[in-house]
Amino acid sequence: MKKRILTGITTTGTPHIGNYLGAIKPALNLAGPETESYFFLADYHALIKQTDSSLIEASVKEIALAWLASGLDVEHSNFYRQSDIPEVHELTWILSCSAAKGLLNRAHAYKSVVSENEALNADDDKAISMGLFSYPVLMAADILIFNATHVPVGPDQAQHLEMARDIAGKFNHTYSNTFNLPEALIQNKISVPGIDGRKMSKSYNNIIPFLCSEKDLQKAISKIITNSLEPGEPKDYKNCNLFELYSLFGDADQITSFKQAYADGISWGDAKKELFTVMNNEIATIRDKYFDLSSQPNLLNDLFEDGARKVRPQAQELIEKLRELVGISKIV
Ligand code: TRP
Repeated sequence: MKKRILTGITTTGTPHIGNYLGAIKPALNLAGPETESYFFLADYHALIKQTDSSLIEASVKEIALAWLASGLDVEHSNFYRQSDIPEVHELTWILSCSAAKGLLNRAHAYKSVVSENEALNADDDKAISMGLFSYPVLMAADILIFNATHVPVGPDQAQHLEMARDIAGKFNHTYSNTFNLPEALIQNKISVPGIDGRKMSKSYNNIIPFLCSEKDLQKAISKIITNSLEPGEPKDYKNCNLFELYSLFGDADQITSFKQAYADGISWGDAKKELFTVMNNEIATIRDKYFDLSSQPNLLNDLFEDGARKVRPQAQELIEKLRELVGISKIV
């Protein structure tokens, strides 16, 4: 059987170079002629964290365009919105009946809110929706609805994959062997520093966007915080966020000469110019494609429609089989 790769991105926020290097690029590298791939926008997951509908809409658009501009090939991959496959929710309920509450009690995302509440002496359940609590079941349904074999995710999602396997195993044991147990492909944690040196994250307001004009990229790079060493003074490349960013984009030779330039006392201004050059080299074609795609009216609606048309019959077929297995089918 061909490997079936599946992964989704929750549609909150604007994609930045951390998302590109940590999620989009590695997932696209796994999609080859010898694999089947399913890439989707987890828009129903977004409702857990975001109640502003216009921000969800904007994020769906940006993240979809980021996938496409980064090279997702819609001819050879399946690309769709979670919300266009309503069978996911029917499966979520069926799986909820196999998922042990005790299992979900252990989910990190849920537990971290409980411990925040405890620290504040607040009710354990404060600000916890059933959506947050059941999040891993919806995620298991995303994966199992297409019987994915391999799921590339960041290390923070490893536990959710364990839960998906656990829930699938329980269902298989109770009814019949229906689901393949999906394997997590944990992506090496690429740690991408933001302009202030902390992990790049929208919530720290330290991101370098990648779907922006060349000028805005330059502007973001110019804001990278460095120390006050003067031009001509040797600089240490270790623990330097500017250097770390450079090494995520430069090739081995470029990195070696950049180290030498540090030792030779390159000015921070020139170091930023060098960083801009290597980054822009990789991003320029993606950016051009992004601006080109975003000017095409209806492109995304058409692609989402095609994507759902391609994959939804598989979901419908599985649900029909499941209904029969659990006893919800035609009366004979
Ligand atoms: N929970 C994932 C995240 O926040 C997104 C996601 C939803 C996902 N469903 C999925 C990832 C299924 C892989 C497979 O990053």
